[in-house]
Amino acid sequence: MPDNKRLKNIADAFDVSRQDIGRIIRDFHSEMRKGLSRRKSSLKMLPAYVKKPKGTERGEFLALDLGGTNFRVLALRLKGKRRISVLGSKKFILKKKHITGTGKTLFDFIAGCIKTFMDEYKIDTGQKHNIGFTFSFPMKKRRISSGILLRWTKGFKAGAVEGKDVVELLNESLERKGLHNTKVVAIANDTVSTLVAKSYEDKTCDVGVILGTGTNACYPEKQMIINIEWGNFNKIRLTPYDRTLNHLSQNPGEQILEKMISGMYLGVLTRLVARDLIREAIPEAFKAEHMSIVEADTSKNLSHTDKLLKKFRIRDSKYSDRKLLKKICAIISTRAARLSALAIASVVTKIDPRLSGKHTIAVDGSVYEKYTGFSRRIKATLKEIFGNKKAANIRLSLTKDASAKGAAIIAAAVGARSF
Ligand code: BGC
Repeated sequence: MPDNKRLKNIADAFDVSRQDIGRIIRDFHSEMRKGLSRRKSSLKMLPAYVKKPKGTERGEFLALDLGGTNFRVLALRLKGKRRISVLGSKKFILKKKHITGTGKTLFDFIAGCIKTFMDEYKIDTGQKHNIGFTFSFPMKKRRISSGILLRWTKGFKAGAVEGKDVVELLNESLERKGLHNTKVVAIANDTVSTLVAKSYEDKTCDVGVILGTGTNACYPEKQMIINIEWGNFNKIRLTPYDRTLNHLSQNPGEQILEKMISGMYLGVLTRLVARDLIREAIPEAFKAEHMSIVEADTSKNLSHTDKLLKKFRIRDSKYSDRKLLKKICAIISTRAARLSALAIASVVTKIDPRLSGKHTIAVDGSVYEKYTGFSRRIKATLKEIFGNKKAANIRLSLTKDASAKGAAIIAAAVGARSF
């Protein structure tokens, strides 16, 4: 089959058509309803035991942010007038041994990082300190201060943590490090923290979305915020490439939407498709960030792509192959952006079926922030779904680094204490 015919077939397989749009939104709503009423559903709809903040919360807190290979510790001051200041912040890198070893290794490491941070910022460990913990994985909660890990995602597999309360695990590790007065008092998913942080300063914010290594969203229901865990949505048509990826993944059958949208998987999909079209194999190190460079390449002969491929030891790529690679990246990222828009549209219309009010969506994550044209494609798809006028009621607001701030605000709901 000629290349252009094969490319056309692939583009068709990854297309999200107008018909798909209506069906996916209907299925999304139906899965949301089932999840809320505790029936079997790919959307877990996990109660967060957190409400939207008032903006008057005050105090000083330690905040932790764990969700990818970076782990951050921060000291934050909430000023009570919708303003927060960062008193200190430090990033630590998790190594493979922390992510794939035992839970004890992981949480002892984290507690060690907290100790290092407190020493560095001369925070008196003899005093009482409350920690707000953003933990970006699916958790079952019964109160604000507990979170039972349902399952790891995004390549994490530290042993003996699934089914356990991660707050208890971390508090035990803090004790072991001699931090007897430093305790986790509140835990939240990153979407929840992002929504809370944004709505601390902007009352109209009612959805928190992450489009990064993983993907997910939350919104307020009547009683409290619900963590949708939309990455696990599975009422979507899979291409043969999705099936292969799913089969090769750490969690086959789970996180189907995440495997089509998020940064952890976009590069893998591109490589799988490229294998069928391009002579040279694209190496494993080729990730979403590289796809973005290829898509942004408007140089004659796609010389930036050539330079990039050379870094991956593909020394004499043909122009026709570079062109194909650019098209493959566009096909895969366009589907990802369109599906992201559909998921956002589903959540907003769950809150406001006629889209009659204004909605601010706090969005964070590397794919949304950095991938060439990703946010533009989401916005274009929202216009396609709702028409220009109604779509203008949805404002996507890039909310960077909000998840740690949100953790501190949530901790404030439990009790304040100065350093
Ligand atoms: C996790 C979610 C998280 C999302 C974004 C997913 O893999 O299941 O809990 O919110 O990644 O970090």
